[in-house]
Amino acid sequence: MDYIQELKEFIQSQESPARYRHTLQTAEVCAELADRFGVSAIDATVAGLWHDIARSWSDHRLLAYTRTHGLGALTYEIQNPKLLHSVVGAHQFSSSQLRYDRDPDQIEQVRLAIRWHTTGHHTMGTMGYVLFIADYIEPGRTHLSDADRRKILQLETLEAMMSEVLQMQSRYFSAQGVDVALGPGRGLYQLLS
Ligand SMILES: [Fe+2]
Ligand SMILES: [Fe+2]
Repeated sequence: MDYIQELKEFIQSQESPARYRHTLQTAEVCAELADRFGVSAIDATVAGLWHDIARSWSDHRLLAYTRTHGLGALTYEIQNPKLLHSVVGAHQFSSSQLRYDRDPDQIEQVRLAIRWHTTGHHTMGTMGYVLFIADYIEPGRTHLSDADRRKILQLETLEAMMSEVLQMQSRYFSAQGVDVALGPGRGLYQLLS
């Protein structure tokens, strides 16, 4: 059995049906964006499949795993433990017994994409952009209108798409009363502005 098939079966065994649907659709959009922008579609699929492996964990379990494995996390993530599912997911990917047989640079790109898919970060790289955007626009996302989805997809570069997603997120967080200056994506405003 190849890695992708084995991985799908493993992820499906770990996630609820609804979460797994989101995971598969994110992985599919990852592959489409990767093809379009000249990034490895296989690596993008792998990042998409792993990204929410710990999304349904309790805050307690996420904090305990992060502490036990000595994983680095931002203060903001510790204060909002659900965000730690990216830290834990990245670690699960790199320490899994399912061996992803790629060169170390490619594995690191996938790891960084998973690591920063929640908050964004200046080290997330092109693969990180692909996952971040795919996670936001996959067809199961109901927070996004078809017009907004089209608006993002019509943009010509991943950087422009990232910027648009961040602006949409920022408007959403503002409407929810979240302090955007302290919230997710704050590092990217500097990067992309
Ligand atoms: Fe996530
Ligand atoms: Fe997700």
